[in-house]
Amino acid sequence: MFEGIAVLRWLCWGAVYLLAVSVALSSETLPPCPQSCRCNAALQELNCSGSQLARVPDDLPPNTKLLNLTRNRITALVQRKFQSLPQLLDLDLSDNIVAVMEVEAFLGLERLVTLRLARNRLKLIPVGVFAGLPKLKLLDISSNEILVFIDFTFRHLTALQFIKATDNELVFISHQAFAGLTSLHELHLDGCNLTAVPTEAFTQLSGLRSLHFHQLGFATLQNYSFRQLGRLKELVITRSRWLETLAANSLFGLNLTSLTIKQCNLSAVPYVPLHPLVYLVYLDLSFNPITDIHGNLFGDMLRLRELHLVGCSLLRIEIEAFKGLAHFKLLNVSGNLLTTLEAGAFHSVDNLRTLGLDNNPLACDCRLLWVVPRRQHLDFGGNPPTCSTSVHLQGRYVLDFTEAELPGLLTCRPPRILNRKPQEVKVDQGHTAVMYCIAEGDPVPSVTWLSPQLKTLSPIGRIRAVSNGSLEVHYAQPQDSGAYLCVASNAAGNDSLPVSLHVRVFPSSSKNPFRLKGWFTFPSASPGVNGNQIITFDVRTLLVVATIGLLSFFSSVSVCFIFMFFWSKSKGQIKHTATIAYVPRSTVASSNGGKGNCVEKNRFTMKLI
Ligand SMILES: *[C@@H]1O[C@H](CO)[C@@H](O)[C@H](O)[C@H]1NC(C)=O
Ligand SMILES: *[C@@H]1O[C@H](CO)[C@@H](O)[C@H](O)[C@H]1NC(C)=O
Ligand SMILES: *[C@@H]1O[C@H](CO)[C@@H](O)[C@H](O)[C@H]1NC(C)=O
Ligand SMILES: *[C@@H]1O[C@H](CO)[C@@H](O)[C@H](O)[C@H]1NC(C)=O
Ligand SMILES: *[C@@H]1O[C@H](CO)[C@@H](O)[C@H](O)[C@H]1NC(C)=O
Ligand SMILES: *[C@@H]1O[C@H](CO)[C@@H](O)[C@H](O)[C@H]1NC(C)=O
Ligand SMILES: *[C@@H]1O[C@H](CO)[C@@H](O)[C@H](O)[C@H]1NC(C)=O
Ligand SMILES: *[C@@H]1O[C@H](CO)[C@@H](O)[C@H](O)[C@H]1NC(C)=O
Ligand SMILES: *[C@@H]1O[C@H](CO)[C@@H](O)[C@H](O)[C@H]1NC(C)=O
Repeated sequence: MFEGIAVLRWLCWGAVYLLAVSVALSSETLPPCPQSCRCNAALQELNCSGSQLARVPDDLPPNTKLLNLTRNRITALVQRKFQSLPQLLDLDLSDNIVAVMEVEAFLGLERLVTLRLARNRLKLIPVGVFAGLPKLKLLDISSNEILVFIDFTFRHLTALQFIKATDNELVFISHQAFAGLTSLHELHLDGCNLTAVPTEAFTQLSGLRSLHFHQLGFATLQNYSFRQLGRLKELVITRSRWLETLAANSLFGLNLTSLTIKQCNLSAVPYVPLHPLVYLVYLDLSFNPITDIHGNLFGDMLRLRELHLVGCSLLRIEIEAFKGLAHFKLLNVSGNLLTTLEAGAFHSVDNLRTLGLDNNPLACDCRLLWVVPRRQHLDFGGNPPTCSTSVHLQGRYVLDFTEAELPGLLTCRPPRILNRKPQEVKVDQGHTAVMYCIAEGDPVPSVTWLSPQLKTLSPIGRIRAVSNGSLEVHYAQPQDSGAYLCVASNAAGNDSLPVSLHVRVFPSSSKNPFRLKGWFTFPSASPGVNGNQIITFDVRTLLVVATIGLLSFFSSVSVCFIFMFFWSKSKGQIKHTATIAYVPRSTVASSNGGKGNCVEKNRFTMKLI
């Protein structure tokens, strides 16, 4: 009896087990793996890459999470083709020849997170193609032939965070093209055929954090190009070889922490446009034909930590170039034409952690001495600076010098002015005087000239310090006379030489070309001018002046009269007649008794106009 029950129980369990096994087996084998694909059932991945497929296969297993259809020959995506794949998270259609996408092509992919359509032949994305993708976060449509983004193209993609649309030939982006993209954080675009930044379209992207632009097709970034992108943190503009200038207010409205303008045609650091970016931490202007970093112009960017200027044409980084940048940690100026980099360029050289200075024609002299004690702490990115100008140091790494060697190397020679004997230059008034000042030293000293009033003279103007060290005084005037000072200075010190200039005034003979017959002269009373200065007038001038004076006198008198007329007219109460009595002396004297009569008799009336 018991045995029968036990056997029955065994049979029951066995049946249950068999059932379970068969269910398990059927669930693994039921959805067949399409012939041209390789299925990974455990990961629910379908790899149909490189299978010469001309269209999306039918009967795909409905529990697929990843579908890889890359490297096929698919030309079109028809309506609701993927409707049977509600579990799909990742769809890759890159490297096909898709030219047509029908409306609602992706409908039903309710959990899809990533959609890749790179390297296809899309020209236009019709409105409604992306309907039914509420979870999509990443869309890659790069390397297609898309010409325009029309209004509401991405309307349904409310969860979309990242659009990659580089390497298209965008000519136009409609104003409402990005409407509905409320979650978009990052956008990558190419703009080689755009005539301006699509400012209007960008106003829809209030949540954008990162914007990458490649191949902008215009020379000037216009004012207020990014005016509604207040939350943008990173702006990257690369490979825009036409871009030459940024208008003064082009970056206005942005609050960036990172700005890259690389491989463009900027010939100067855009100091003015950078002004509003006080939170900027990272600035990359590499591969632009920039020649100078000027002193003291980065002042407002107090938070700047990194500056990359790799492969520019930098010749000079001026003293105080990074003044005020208290957090400055990284400078990469490798691959430029710098002959030196002085410690005085930095706000504080001790904050510096990384320095890219390789591939520059550096002169290893005292100006680079500051690098040596810091070489242990500085990161040179594997390429320490090398010397290239002085022969005995050529090709040597700054790092290689031993402490014992150092005092003899990396030296400078202070300047010495060669034509030492005190100079005096005499010149006639109106002629040009040239004062020479030739100095030598290592590094080659720079020569400046100070006026007798100790003002530094500039290379422009009537009195100019020309670049070869000479001072030129054109159309010399008596007041130019005095002691000028030539100062030659380099990193090692300075030397100076006074040169006195004496301007001979015109002799007061008839040789003076400006004096004409019929002019009369009188000495000027001005005490500041040498007594010989004269002021000249002629009769005609005096006549003209007198005539003009008289004319103006008469006209002001007339104006006075006219004014009085209107004033009197405007006062309504004033009587327009005045009665004036006058009493002749004789009458008064003769008639003492009949006074009233006399008064009445001698009265007359005057009318005011
Ligand atoms: C997909 O299949 C192709 C062709 O067999 C293979 O080369 C590739 O490595 C596979 N990819 C993945 C992600 O498994
Ligand atoms: C699809 O397969 C290709 C080729 O193996 C591979 O390069 C690509 O990364 C795959 N896509 C995904 C989303 O895994
Ligand atoms: C876009 O610009 C590229 C490069 O400048 C050019 O070859 C192409 O013909 C342009 N396309 C259109 C539609 O203008
Ligand atoms: C940009 O704005 C500045 C200041 O308003 C103005 O001086 C400049 O001419 C403008 N530049 C362009 C290219 O519109
Ligand atoms: C770059 O700018 C220079 C002038 O600054 C100009 O001569 C040159 O043609 C520009 N290059 C391109 C590709 O536009
Ligand atoms: C600008 O950005 C900084 C940090 O990225 C932030 O602290 C600051 O509040 C922002 N300013 C404005 C006006 O949004
Ligand atoms: C400077 O930039 C170049 C090019 O990006 C890179 O190779 C190098 O390592 C950088 N140097 C440093 C010190 O970071
Ligand atoms: C410097 O250049 C000026 C012309 O710019 C020339 O007159 C002068 O002789 C030059 N000086 C020297 C020392 O060569
Ligand atoms: C020249 O050097 C002296 C001392 O080294 C210094 O006091 C002076 O300010 C320097 N003059 C100039 C014009 O640099």
